[in-house]
Amino acid sequence: MTDSPPTIVAELEPAMWRLYRDFFDQAEKKRRWSIRDDIPWDQCNPNINPAIADIVESFCAVELYLPDYTSKILPVVRPSKGRTWFYANWGYEESKHSLALGDWLLKSGARTDEQMADLEAKIFQWEWNLPHDNHLGMLVYAMVQEAATWLNYRNLRLKGEEGNGDPALSKLLTYVAVDERAHHSFFRQCVELYLKHDRAGTLEQMRRVMNDFAMPALHAMADGRLRIARIKNLEIFDENIYYREVYLPILASLGVDRKEMRNRLPSRKTGVNGVAIET
Ligand SMILES: [Fe+2]
Ligand SMILES: [Fe+2]
Repeated sequence: MTDSPPTIVAELEPAMWRLYRDFFDQAEKKRRWSIRDDIPWDQCNPNINPAIADIVESFCAVELYLPDYTSKILPVVRPSKGRTWFYANWGYEESKHSLALGDWLLKSGARTDEQMADLEAKIFQWEWNLPHDNHLGMLVYAMVQEAATWLNYRNLRLKGEEGNGDPALSKLLTYVAVDERAHHSFFRQCVELYLKHDRAGTLEQMRRVMNDFAMPALHAMADGRLRIARIKNLEIFDENIYYREVYLPILASLGVDRKEMRNRLPSRKTGVNGVAIET
């Protein structure tokens, strides 16, 4: 077990930078999309199940914490050009997600301008803080959170397509999910570099983060419990989905055995929508 907090490893930086350049080149070539031109806004369905619109609002709320996500992580990864440049591009992509989801809530008639203004005011009453105190814990957290976010959006799209559906929402959620998957992939490759460099230290961070994972921000909102319950009720995301479709696939893709994830100490806490894994 390492005693001092992990620091950014300079010798990994050239590889990290190459990962960023590949990520960026791919994004420019294959993933750019326009909120204005690429979503069939005239096909919004005003009669969509209100439970779907409630969850769109919750995901929009999570995306609206963007100023906290970017401003808190950048000082932590400041010495890494690969990661700081990544976050600059990432912030642009994440900003589109809240804009697109907010536009859908208005154009579909699910929310009014006043309701959206209320939501934004609520967001600024509380500040999100980094859930882990070191750069490597945050790298692992980002890898897991992006995979979980991809899954949340994909499952919401599939739920939304049941019944009479909404082509605008489907298209929007497809674009957003592809972005989240690309974010996950970048962070996963970064974690791979750290695993090769320091397996014991990286596994320690993986245990801390992955055995007690919670999605960001939602649980801290005044109505967070209700929002999380809605997500579970529609079977979009819960502990079992996390274990089956996030936790195990990540371990498999990194070549980490479940035995290596056994906690040395019992888990101290579980967030409201936290996931404690029995190891
Ligand atoms: Fe996003
Ligand atoms: Fe993302």
